Amino acid sequence: MPYENVLIEDGNGVRWITLNRPAKLNALNRAVLAELGSAVNAAGSDGAVRAVVVTGYGDKAFAAGADIAEFVGLDPRDAQQFARAGQAVFDTIAALPKPVIAAVNGFALGGGCELALACHMRVASAAARFGQPEAKLGLIPGYGGTQRLARLVGQGRALELLLTGRMVDASTALAWGLVNRVVEPAELRSTAQGLAEETAAVSPLAAGRCLESVRIGLNLPLDQAQEVEAALFALCFASDDMREGTTAFLEKRPPKFVGR
Ligand code: COA
Repeated sequence: MPYENVLIEDGNGVRWITLNRPAKLNALNRAVLAELGSAVNAAGSDGAVRAVVVTGYGDKAFAAGADIAEFVGLDPRDAQQFARAGQAVFDTIAALPKPVIAAVNGFALGGGCELALACHMRVASAAARFGQPEAKLGLIPGYGGTQRLARLVGQGRALELLLTGRMVDASTALAWGLVNRVVEPAELRSTAQGLAEETAAVSPLAAGRCLESVRIGLNLPLDQAQEVEAALFALCFASDDMREGTTAFLEKRPPKFVGR
């Protein structure tokens, strides 16, 4: 499918999905969200893609939120569907069995912050700014923000962002654990690509199961989460990748993973 609102590039097994609506600071209107969802699904089903990076076009914004112009005229029922549609796209990202990295190149506000939160890891330019300003609009986040943000940085810090609507800079985001690392703007692309390539070098099967175990386990009590972990650990023992990885280690050679 030809895309109009996202750019797709591939390199060394890494698929870059770039939100491409810079005139509106990459605000996530329905068209952008639909193409993002479709691009993520396509990356998930493409065997040549081992990791995904999501970023925003230009040097100003990752994404400045849901498109506020699309809120006009929504009644509560429409608004609930609107939220569920965005959540569905972000859930697809969070559940992708391949690493997804957000390369946050500028403003990550509202839905843009929620998009970064749905990704598995975040690297940020020193120019990035994070915030959930919805309460300033008389709203709350609707794409998972009240939930993923609190799970990632804790209730106090999440509520500070939610209740003030203010932005935090990249160094605060790093100190809070909201991002994995911060680099100079000129190094963002190579840093995200390098991290993605590093994840692409482990067994794709094991990567998928790490993602699954963390994603499912975080929503369960520890004892049940450990059962999930043990079951997924056990499944690895039926895989070619586990045999190859352990054999290669014992034979002192690099492994050749096939992803099954
Ligand atoms: N929805 C729709 N349009 C948006 C948008 C959004 N979330 N964020 C930015 N835009 C548009 C602006 O309306 C403007 O469009 P125009 O040039 O046609 O008037 C364009 O993007 C550039 O934004 P502008 O506000 O002029 O840039 P700025 O540098 O002065 O301010 C921000 C940057 C990010 C501080 C400001 O755009 C902003 O506060 N955006 C909204 C953030 C938000 O509340 N997000 C949560 C939405 S639920």
